[in-house]
Amino acid sequence: MGSLDDGVSASGSSLPNSMEKFLCDRLLDPSQPISERFRALFSLRNLKGPGPRNALIQATRDSSNLLAHEAAFALGQMQDSEAIPALEAVLNDLSLHPIVRHEAAEALGAIGLESNIPLLKNSLVLDPAPEVRETCELALQRIEELNSGSRDDKSSMTEKSPFLSVDPAGAAPSHSSVDKLREVLLDETRGMYERYSALFALRNHGGEEAVSAIIDSLGAESALLKHEVAYVLGQLQNKAASAVLSNVLRNAGEHPMVRHEAAEALGSIADDQSVALLEEFARDPEPIVSQSCEVALSMLEFERAGKSFEFLFMQTPVVACLQAQLLQVKAQLAQHAMNSHNIDGQWEQNLSGLFHSIPNYPISPQSSLESVEVELNDADAMNMQEIHSLENFSFHGKRPCDSDLGELQAIALRMMRN
Ligand SMILES: [Fe+2]
Ligand SMILES: [Fe+2]
Repeated sequence: MGSLDDGVSASGSSLPNSMEKFLCDRLLDPSQPISERFRALFSLRNLKGPGPRNALIQATRDSSNLLAHEAAFALGQMQDSEAIPALEAVLNDLSLHPIVRHEAAEALGAIGLESNIPLLKNSLVLDPAPEVRETCELALQRIEELNSGSRDDKSSMTEKSPFLSVDPAGAAPSHSSVDKLREVLLDETRGMYERYSALFALRNHGGEEAVSAIIDSLGAESALLKHEVAYVLGQLQNKAASAVLSNVLRNAGEHPMVRHEAAEALGSIADDQSVALLEEFARDPEPIVSQSCEVALSMLEFERAGKSFEFLFMQTPVVACLQAQLLQVKAQLAQHAMNSHNIDGQWEQNLSGLFHSIPNYPISPQSSLESVEVELNDADAMNMQEIHSLENFSFHGKRPCDSDLGELQAIALRMMRN
């Protein structure tokens, strides 16, 4: 690719058409490794407009059930009502894997429009998979609560959770005790919505007792509940959960959607044993499980290298703050270099080139589902090859010394953690 298509994407961001096209093509290219396709998916879910939406919709029909379910999930998290007809078609298509239909139902609940009720009611009765029917039950109750105004704590329904996810149920009121929430979560006679509400309240509460209640609920009967529990344990990144999640991943008799969430959660926890286990199960005969492990390992690799798993640099307050710090470091390093007379004009120029490039470096937290403005800044004057070269920290062929990079990466990681 020699030059960029200069047009700006229909998303209205400053993202050039060619970058959007690159991401859509990468998402839909079955010859790409699954982790590369996920990198594109995670970038597209932060964008708006018909291009990203249509690519994600197309991905819900992919032969990789893992990619297809993640695309449906992303459409729900984006709460894009334009995606409703496609999500309805996915939910109605019994030839698709239940994990994909489940995410379509959940996405319809996340979008939360009353017009979705008849279809969800229909699937609640007719879908052959219990996990899909249970999801419809949750989605219907979420929509009902959202539109009835009956809930006192309505903010838990309308706002994103402290973990930036649009949850399938509002968290139970924050004044509920951990003991009470535990009792509800573990009670097999309670409705699924009530148990989910208790789960999210325990997650938001945090602390040892709450985490232990969540871990105990991995013994629940419902595969749907267990998969959400594993997802929540991944959000919490609590090492106390690593043994029980490992057992879930090892259990070939467990529902693949539960094992998939366990694999992703182990990737977030990322202690040495989890990594070894992910490597082992990247060869699991069930593709939903093996691909989950592959993606989790790839995400870890990026994280350990101080790079973002996503392709794009996302402009967030954190990044803006990071940019300010980097400018400060730039000034200090330049001053130091001038003082020590160890650099010639060329090195000074290189240094300046390095810091000029830093703000374009992809750095958003990989778990962020916030809709953020994409700013490619100078990157839209580069071709895709050059954008790739940014990922490798090779700034136009001029590689700064490792200690400078180490320092910059350390700052970046510190900022991301904070
Ligand atoms: Fe799910
Ligand atoms: Fe999932």
